[in-house]
Amino acid sequence: MATVELVEQDKRVLAPETEESSFEILTQYVSDDASSSKSTRCRLGNHEKRRMDREQYKALLKEKDQKRKEERRRRREAGILPPRTKPVKINKYPSPMSLVIDLSFDELMTDKEITDLSNQMNRSYGANRSSWRPVRLYFTSFGGRIKERFMSKVKDWERWKDVTFTEKSFEEVFVDTSKITYLTADADDVLTDLSEDEVYVIGGLVDRNRHKGVCLRKAHDLGIAAAKLPISSYITMKTRSVLTVNHVAEIMISYVNRQNWEKAFNDIIPKRKFHLSITQIGVYATATTFG
Ligand SMILES: C[S@@+](CC[C@H](N)C(=O)[O-])C[C@H]1O[C@@H](n2cnc3c(N)ncnc32)[C@H](O)[C@@H]1O
Repeated sequence: MATVELVEQDKRVLAPETEESSFEILTQYVSDDASSSKSTRCRLGNHEKRRMDREQYKALLKEKDQKRKEERRRRREAGILPPRTKPVKINKYPSPMSLVIDLSFDELMTDKEITDLSNQMNRSYGANRSSWRPVRLYFTSFGGRIKERFMSKVKDWERWKDVTFTEKSFEEVFVDTSKITYLTADADDVLTDLSEDEVYVIGGLVDRNRHKGVCLRKAHDLGIAAAKLPISSYITMKTRSVLTVNHVAEIMISYVNRQNWEKAFNDIIPKRKFHLSITQIGVYATATTFG
């Protein structure tokens, strides 16, 4: 009877949370209780052995690491490896241009589209943060389901830097409407260059082309300019050139940074969406005519 009780007691002691703590508890237990079972003493032996192995292994790794560092230092001194250089900190050169994502279309989207929109906002923010010349980014009319989504699923968004989240509409934030251009693939006017003291608005809408012309109508109603990106001057698209919110944001940011529409379109628009760039067509035509 006493043996059974002891074994049960051993089991309780033998199932602590971590190996280290189990070893300590075991040692304590065995030294406190001379009548501890044979199996407990045996387990203790294994613990000791494993701990020894671990320590030996750690020492071996440390030794190897030191040797590797020493070898690298020797090779650097011998001129085989280049000297150590500190990473260069690139100073940002922010643009005064304002880029707005207009989030006033809540009721036109399904829950899934709201989720997609929050991901696209995330990507737009990331592209701006990592650029050398970031623009002034605004998320206006921030409320309803998109705000709920951010509050429940987007980590740390309240700590995001260099971006303005506001419940106000963009017309309330930027009162001089003569400086605003609404971007939409449905416009007749084409954007050729960007003016850095202007405000460009992207419709925060994921609609899989269900709501054609919504943004153009909004621009007309507000009496502000509307324009489309000059995509057809540089690449031939297989489909209508309606892009996602983040692709348009990334193209605008890329243009501010590099002043090159063609590079922006080639880098950002997914390849499956277009045929050949105008330059590629030119090279191909030259090659087939004269080659
Ligand atoms: C998925 S689209 C929404 C399409 C929507 N049916 C509309 O009325 O514009 C998301 C936003 O990206 C911008 N956009 C997409 N393609 C564009 C293009 N080719 N030129 C300018 N802006 C574009 C627009 O601001 C548009 O509201």
